[in-house]
Amino acid sequence: MSDHASGGDVTVKAVTGLPEFRPGDDLAGAIADAAPWLQDGDVLVVTSKVVSKVEGRLVTVPADPDARDAERRRLVEAEAVRVVARINRTVITENKLGIVQAASGIDSSNVAGDELALLPENPDDSALALRNGIRERLGVNVAVVITDTMGRAWRIGQTDTAIGSSGVTVLHKYAGQIDRQGNELVVTEIAVADEIAAAADLVKGKTGGLPVAVVRGLAVTDDGSTAADLIRPTDQDLFRLGTEESLAQGRSEAVLMRRSVRFYTDEPIPEDAIRKAVGIALTAPAPHHTRPVRFVHVKERRKELLDAMRAQWRADLANDGWSEDRIDRRVRRGDLLYGAKEIVLPFLVREGAHTYPDPQRSEAERTMFTIAGGAAVQGLLVALAAEGIGSCWVSSTIFCAPVVREVLGLPSEWEPLGAVAVGYPTDGPLAPRPPRDPADAFMEL
Ligand SMILES: Cc1cc2nc3c(=O)[nH]c(=O)nc-3n(C[C@H](O)[C@H](O)[C@H](O)COP(=O)(O)O)c2cc1C
Repeated sequence: MSDHASGGDVTVKAVTGLPEFRPGDDLAGAIADAAPWLQDGDVLVVTSKVVSKVEGRLVTVPADPDARDAERRRLVEAEAVRVVARINRTVITENKLGIVQAASGIDSSNVAGDELALLPENPDDSALALRNGIRERLGVNVAVVITDTMGRAWRIGQTDTAIGSSGVTVLHKYAGQIDRQGNELVVTEIAVADEIAAAADLVKGKTGGLPVAVVRGLAVTDDGSTAADLIRPTDQDLFRLGTEESLAQGRSEAVLMRRSVRFYTDEPIPEDAIRKAVGIALTAPAPHHTRPVRFVHVKERRKELLDAMRAQWRADLANDGWSEDRIDRRVRRGDLLYGAKEIVLPFLVREGAHTYPDPQRSEAERTMFTIAGGAAVQGLLVALAAEGIGSCWVSSTIFCAPVVREVLGLPSEWEPLGAVAVGYPTDGPLAPRPPRDPADAFMEL
């Protein structure tokens, strides 16, 4: 067919007399009872909410508004594989099916007061099952479109769109066709399934308790496509990185995602992730245009290094008069470097530092270089956090600098700035935390 228009009249009719659906209900049976007049070629359009209900995708939430809100936010993140944008309290996510929607499609409209509805697990499968169910009961071949209401990024207002379908060609591609003026339609592809969803919404509405409608009179074709084919592939998404706001949000989020992670999974750190984070860390500010920071990714000599550091630590504590027992307990704190997936050691080299005749300015110069080292290490931790990689900056190498230099064969002017343990956290992905209240740590004078 050369045009997606039907060429004749199209009617949209609500299916009335449906019950309030609950988990486990027979949706196909109820629709077949309420619409025995369905015929071949009809498109049955069903609001995803009722599919969620019969499929048991309801979650009971607390009555307390704060607890309810917290649970809702948790569910939104749990359903998401990616946060696309976060603007004020609105979170736009991509779910595991690739559907990009506000709040992962989680919704409290038309469900009981203490419940939230999640999107159906796989709306294309639900559409196919419903289509087969109607065929079994009424002996007719209908197409099925499952809809949800979505905003459009560049337009005000929401429309219904197809999130699941079966039996209808979802996209009508005009590429290569010529219009009546002789122009070639190069890029035109009509999202027919979305147009059907939107048309049905004009009779279903949101408040009248009419979740199902039938669109009749379309010249339905079926090329085997489903609503999943309407999801724009990532490599064709010009806006994947989000808007200015979400980019800005993302920038500060990396800082807020950093926290000291002390337990790590076995998951390998991607090739080059550490080198990339070091590159970012080395952009930190430093005095007099110097480059005073070095990083060492310790690999083969790691056990030898940690054992030597531990021996020195034990000797220091024994010297302090500690009992063996107490020493055992204390040095266990060093286990985190043994358990980390990777370790990276930052060092400071005071090349280019100015010299002064008096101790006060010499000390100030030392401080300047030391804090520049700190800035670079924080840069490393934040760069890792931005990739979802956990870290913990531990001080130990600072206390046994000669041992570190000896085991690693480093020059005497390399001053260790601690060690950074790196790995994915065992307690789930890094998530941004709220900023602290500056309180009395900030003043305007
Ligand atoms: C210079 C420095 C040395 C640190 N040394 C250790 C350490 O030896 N062991 C450790 O578990 N954490 C160490 N930390 C991490 C702090 O304990 C941690 O930053 C603090 O508890 C705040 O937690 P957060 O990083 O999750 O915000 C160190 C942090 C810094 C800046």
